[in-house]
Amino acid sequence: MIKFDKDFALIRTKEFLLELKKNNNQLYINKIGHKDTNHIIDNKEPSNLIMTLPNMTFSYYGECDYRESLFYAHYEDGSFSDHFVFTYFEKENNVNNKWPLPKNIKEYLVINYVNERDTISIKHYLGIDEVNNTVASFYKVINKKEKSLLVNRLMSLQLDFDDDGYSFYTFNGKWGDERNITVHQEEIGTFINESKSGASSAQSHPGIIFFKNNDYYLFNLIFSGNHKEIIHNSHLHTTRVLIGANDFMMNIHLGVGEEFITPCATLTYGKSLNDLSLSSQAFINSNIRYDDGVFPLIFNSWEAEEFNLNKSNWPSLAKKAKELGIDTFVFDDGWFGVNRNDTDHDIGDWTWNEKKMGSIPFVKKTLNELGLKFGLWIEPESLSPLSNVWDEMKKFALIKEGDTPVLLRGTYALDYSNKELRDYLFNKLERSLATYKPDYVKWDYNRSIVDIGLKNKNYGSFYFDYVEGFYDLINRLRKRFPNIIFEGCSSGGNRFDSGALYYFGSIWTSDCTDARKRITIQENTALMYPLKSMTNHISASPNQQTNKKSSIHDRINVALFGQMGVEQNLSNIDEYELNNIKEAFKFYNQYKDLILNGEYYFSNIFNPLHTWTVVDKAKDHAIALLIKLVDKKDKLTLVGLDENKHYNVVSRHQDNASDIVINNISGKELMEEGIEVKDSYLESDKEDNEINISTRVLVINSI
Ligand code: GLA
Repeated sequence: MIKFDKDFALIRTKEFLLELKKNNNQLYINKIGHKDTNHIIDNKEPSNLIMTLPNMTFSYYGECDYRESLFYAHYEDGSFSDHFVFTYFEKENNVNNKWPLPKNIKEYLVINYVNERDTISIKHYLGIDEVNNTVASFYKVINKKEKSLLVNRLMSLQLDFDDDGYSFYTFNGKWGDERNITVHQEEIGTFINESKSGASSAQSHPGIIFFKNNDYYLFNLIFSGNHKEIIHNSHLHTTRVLIGANDFMMNIHLGVGEEFITPCATLTYGKSLNDLSLSSQAFINSNIRYDDGVFPLIFNSWEAEEFNLNKSNWPSLAKKAKELGIDTFVFDDGWFGVNRNDTDHDIGDWTWNEKKMGSIPFVKKTLNELGLKFGLWIEPESLSPLSNVWDEMKKFALIKEGDTPVLLRGTYALDYSNKELRDYLFNKLERSLATYKPDYVKWDYNRSIVDIGLKNKNYGSFYFDYVEGFYDLINRLRKRFPNIIFEGCSSGGNRFDSGALYYFGSIWTSDCTDARKRITIQENTALMYPLKSMTNHISASPNQQTNKKSSIHDRINVALFGQMGVEQNLSNIDEYELNNIKEAFKFYNQYKDLILNGEYYFSNIFNPLHTWTVVDKAKDHAIALLIKLVDKKDKLTLVGLDENKHYNVVSRHQDNASDIVINNISGKELMEEGIEVKDSYLESDKEDNEINISTRVLVINSI
């Protein structure tokens, strides 16, 4: 519900409330938090002694408030301070934003501010997804009369709380180790979580979970580039949270009549961590995620053969993949150019390497006969200097003349802010895709941006323009090829964010396929994103990235909770593993609908013994994963069932452990007392694992 009159606005979702009240031409936060909160914020008038303003959703430099602000700008006369007043509320229905907006939020409350001299106006847009407790927020600055205005910062969402003592989680990591939770305790001063690498990044994810008592807030951003989240705890023990695209190197020039609009940030509210995750997943499913409506069961060639994939081995891999029940065979890196046998060559040359892979008619015929669909990998945002296309494309590379450019994984980054490049790439990719007709394309992005060598440009908007360019190209290709399934990837999960999910129905969650590590990566990702946005592949043991062993059952069990696939060399695995994978795919196909569309619950993920449960709405059917990361005898409790219903429970058969069969057990008992799980790792695995993992999958049906 959004309501307002002249001096007052109310934004209310199922569980969350934000009240704004006008006082002396300023707009203050009157209430914030759970919908029943009766805490009214005491907004003291600003004074030089206080040196901080009351609680607001818009801040700027020029008052006695030295906290981090939402808006910074420089003016023609060299000044950089201003004074704004709140003018009026209005509602807007057909809101335009060049950045992705939540698809089902049609109506926005617009809060209008203007500076005293009436030369700049600021519009703050607030929309809601009532059922999923999510508020969408973005800002627009319009230069009405300033001869020249340089915008140095405009974030997407600000919330001020009149207290402190909050805790928060940030999601940090690196390649193959994305989205680890860092637990923070708020302290006086400023905390910044940000990315400057051009992508939302594996190092610092844009989502922050902020909480105190039973109020949980997820701040997130529908944007795939540099982002910044600021938590400012003032000397008066108040807290400001800001989130938006990063202002790093931002310097946007606006002439008279010009405007700048920010990407959209989201705030999801929950009464517990699980509640928050349920709302966020549902919000992303209904408002953000690109929905192809299909979930291919993929064999990916990368961990199987890397650059050694060729016409002498892929047909037999395809045959084995088909026997397993796979429906799409993906030629990952290595199918293009002439020398793509390592990471140094041919990125940019998206032509089929017939000599290495066999002709396209041969590929089509082989796959058709097996009844397999055809998938391809591309990395269109980079360029190899060692390639046939270098001379033609080097003018688009982000390299600075006279400097030694930074070569990462054998490539330079391309200037996606340049429309000429995007047109060139569109034509080139269009030609390849129209000729090869793949059913699926994996869009990878393996290098970050460092050199910004552009010609005759205002570089102050580069990081925004880059992301806009990326969205533009994928959008054009999507429109041209509506039947191709595009999956996102960025060295695994280096660009796993709401913006990317707007264009990709799923993202390769991480390059790490080690079952144990995947538990952490997947469950932390699931705090924000739906299971169906994650692709998970069963891979070989010992694992390629960690060199650790895990049983085929653990690898299967963990990969089941998302879009499943396989990525290992099928020609040299034994019958035992093959049969187990085959059975796993049968199981997956049987329960796929529940796994991908059910509600996801979890018990304490910080405990080495914990569970995931996916339940249907009626709470009659569930699939659960029991996770033991230590040798400890204890019972594992489930979450999300109906305590008044009775269930039959049976485990997915694993030949390294005895079956679990429990008849007629109440939901209450499953959730309060739990199930004891014996270790299921093999002694041979144990030697190589400092931490032993035992997982079991349960099928739960109400009686
Ligand atoms: C990245 C991806 C991998 C694979 C390789 C190929 O690392 O994340 O899945 O596609 O590139 O070079």
